[in-house]
Amino acid sequence: MTFQPPYRPSGRSVWLGKDLVRTDDWIVRLSPATLEEIDAAVSRLRRRNAYDTPVAREEFPLTTMADDLARMRHEIATGRGFFVFRGLDRGRYSDNELGLIFRGFGAHFGHELTQSAFGDRLGDIRDISDILVDRSKRRGYQSGGFQTAHTDPSGEVGIVAMLSLKMAMAGGESLIASAHTVHNMLLDWCPDLLGEFYQGFVLRRPEADAERMGRAALIGNVPSFCYENGWLNCDFQHGYMRRAAEHGDTTISPKQEAALGAFVAISNHPDVVLKMMLEPGDFQFINNRTILHGRAGFEDHAAKDQRRHLYRLWLNVPEWPRMPASQSTLVAADMARWDALAVQHRAATPAWAS
Ligand SMILES: [Fe+2]
Repeated sequence: MTFQPPYRPSGRSVWLGKDLVRTDDWIVRLSPATLEEIDAAVSRLRRRNAYDTPVAREEFPLTTMADDLARMRHEIATGRGFFVFRGLDRGRYSDNELGLIFRGFGAHFGHELTQSAFGDRLGDIRDISDILVDRSKRRGYQSGGFQTAHTDPSGEVGIVAMLSLKMAMAGGESLIASAHTVHNMLLDWCPDLLGEFYQGFVLRRPEADAERMGRAALIGNVPSFCYENGWLNCDFQHGYMRRAAEHGDTTISPKQEAALGAFVAISNHPDVVLKMMLEPGDFQFINNRTILHGRAGFEDHAAKDQRRHLYRLWLNVPEWPRMPASQSTLVAADMARWDALAVQHRAATPAWAS
């Protein structure tokens, strides 16, 4: 019998990149009044190190765009699932000031989460694989190259946000795709392959992550699509699936292989993907449960301080329904352990050596 999913998404969350690229209503241009408000907040906060203390919502009011923010929160949750902000003058602010602005915006969308055992809430996305050669000491976002469409680890992470500080010499565009569109295309063209994603794939996290989380590397079976509490949630961590197969935790069947091939082909297809260059000062908020993200390959500058560089935030949105337990691969307890490790690390590392 042909597979039937519990729900077929429709409406704004189902979109094609080739349609959206012809419009710009997903871009929010910051108004002169908002830019003035941002300037005032920056002059109050500028002595603060952007990597340290979070910026609270009250410290970064954004009253001039309160209505817009409410609309954007709604659009990210149940609409198209993303927004791009444009209009910050990159030349006007230092990296530290942009970090403060970004964290200030983030506070209007959710609670910041720690992104690794280094306790980073303001993450640096930059290719330093030639400097930090040991793969186990590096996170995925510290490497370069093309990234296929994926979600970040599910559980607490509701929104992934990125702010561009520096662009590569060539390429490095941001690629996003609607997971709901991918779902419906699989349903229309190969429903039985869609069924494989509801059944799930065995995942294995990197050993170094597992050790720092105090958890087993083998995560177990995780559905890529799960419909619960009125939300169709997607979790697609392809690298984790392959790692499990390489370690002998599972065998990817020919049917699963065909399903993965279809998913990768659709989610990276030029008609499906919205490709955009985040210019310095631009920032993007995306729903990590309904939007897949990746990036185009790029040619980087040689000097570290000139390389492609983005800040990243992971935000939890308490008002959203909880992520299904079957898809929660990175939970609050794991992040608390990361934070505890980061505190130990800082205590053991003299400031001059960190
Ligand atoms: Fe990612």
